[in-house]
Amino acid sequence: LNIAVLVSGGGTNLQALIDAQNRGEIPNGKISLVVSSRPDAYALERAQKAGIAAKVLRRKEFAQQTAYDDALLQILAENQTGLVILAGFMTIISERIIHAYENKMINIHPSLIPSFCGEGFYGLRVHEAALARGVKVTGATVHFVNEVCDGGPIILQKAVEIQAGDTPETLQRRVMEQAEWHLLPKAAALFCAGRLQVENGRVNIREAA
Ligand code: GRF
Repeated sequence: LNIAVLVSGGGTNLQALIDAQNRGEIPNGKISLVVSSRPDAYALERAQKAGIAAKVLRRKEFAQQTAYDDALLQILAENQTGLVILAGFMTIISERIIHAYENKMINIHPSLIPSFCGEGFYGLRVHEAALARGVKVTGATVHFVNEVCDGGPIILQKAVEIQAGDTPETLQRRVMEQAEWHLLPKAAALFCAGRLQVENGRVNIREAA
């Protein structure tokens, strides 16, 4: 099953997926395409080193959203994409794309949804809000993408303790290291093994065959 990973930044989640694949932890999946929204994303270096085809698709190079959507759908179709993974992808995905990949597109969000998520909650903002609220536990969530920002069916979550003296940066790092980099490969493996079933907006993880 061909996996396309959409990125915009450092690509540490992409790297976690690549490393998991190299360890044989995603047996039925193959990361065959990386699409970056920015030409300078370090994620592109990671793709290149891993020998994975990569493309840059910049929203601002398209006059209309429909033209951008056509280009993205074309790239994903050429890759015969069975699973789209949003790994820190910062361009809004239109409903047309979401419907084309309904329950075949997953996203990693650095909080325990439904806390600290939705419009405007991305990157360090998420961790600033968690620290400002004084929560003792935060974490990360992998979910299917639907038309509600960070509102799709939840696949996996992992809790991370907040420590005294945490800054948004130290907390972000811990959430990545202890949660994101484990959850995303695991979710990809479950999807590729056909073990994720969506029912009434909730995800059942079927036993391994
Ligand atoms: C991560 O913090 C992730 O939670 C969020 O965007 C960031 C991506 O980082 N979705 P990277 O590009 O994978 O290093």
